[in-house]
Amino acid sequence: MESMYDCYKLNNGVRIPCIGFGTYKAAAGNGAEGIETALRAGYRYFDTAAFYQNEEDIGRAVIRSGIDRKELFLSSKVWSGDLGEEGTRRSFENSLEKLQTDYLDLYLIHWPCPNHDYKDWKHLVLETWKVMEELCREGRIRAAGVSNFLPQHLEVLAENSEMVPAVDQIEFHPGHTQEMTVSYCQERGIIVQAWSPLGRKRVLEHELLTELSEKYGVSPAQLCIRYAVQRGVIPLPKASSYDRMKQNQDVFGFEISREDMYRIGTMPPAGWSGEHPDFARVRF
Ligand code: A2P
Repeated sequence: MESMYDCYKLNNGVRIPCIGFGTYKAAAGNGAEGIETALRAGYRYFDTAAFYQNEEDIGRAVIRSGIDRKELFLSSKVWSGDLGEEGTRRSFENSLEKLQTDYLDLYLIHWPCPNHDYKDWKHLVLETWKVMEELCREGRIRAAGVSNFLPQHLEVLAENSEMVPAVDQIEFHPGHTQEMTVSYCQERGIIVQAWSPLGRKRVLEHELLTELSEKYGVSPAQLCIRYAVQRGVIPLPKASSYDRMKQNQDVFGFEISREDMYRIGTMPPAGWSGEHPDFARVRF
């Protein structure tokens, strides 16, 4: 990968940029402006979700930009409260309408279970996945995937359905690299994406990242993003200023050594959000 426009090929042949722009809470408050700034900064891949309540802002910003829809990669997610056939269909149509588009490049199941003690989640996930397969066949989404699925959730799809998810979007950053899930996915051709690749800033002052950012002459944020890229993971960083948006794309002029990749990958746990698909929010 030599720029954020370079692409991976998903398991169905669709090309996906190696860096995207994360929008959770980014567009809230400043409306479509943040997205317009990100478009101006060069981002073309936007990751959103019904839950983020910013699809309208993204749709408006995209229309105002005049950029050809085909140059953009738009991804959204069905919320855990809407899993199942009817909810997924309805949520999908709402997302399209808000985004002012007639197709999505990628559509994801946001979480595997409505809540941690919901018993019949397997049934719900399979029903939702069937809708994803239909949407792919109908040409309304170019690829389907999941988010926050651990191997035990992915196994349910593997054992009961034909289509393999194209991506799994998980929390991934130095201090929380979820290697078990990453290797499970990568062995099966599922591309891993990183939400919160900067650990929502919680890891940026960690002493190892400070040391290495001085060594490579980059910021800790750039180090985190480059770490994901070298691990074959698609980072979806958020930022609210133009300068940070640009800085977060500027990660192709240095390479983290193998030794330092191991040091980052094995650093003590840090910066985890506490969100685990099988548990109520974990306090620590
Ligand atoms: P801000 O919105 O003020 O730009 P994550 O993507 O891991 O969730 O992290 C998002 C947080 O990281 C945001 O609070 C954002 O702050 C901050 N951030 C984004 N880019 C950078 C950067 N290059 N340097 C420092 N902080 C950054």
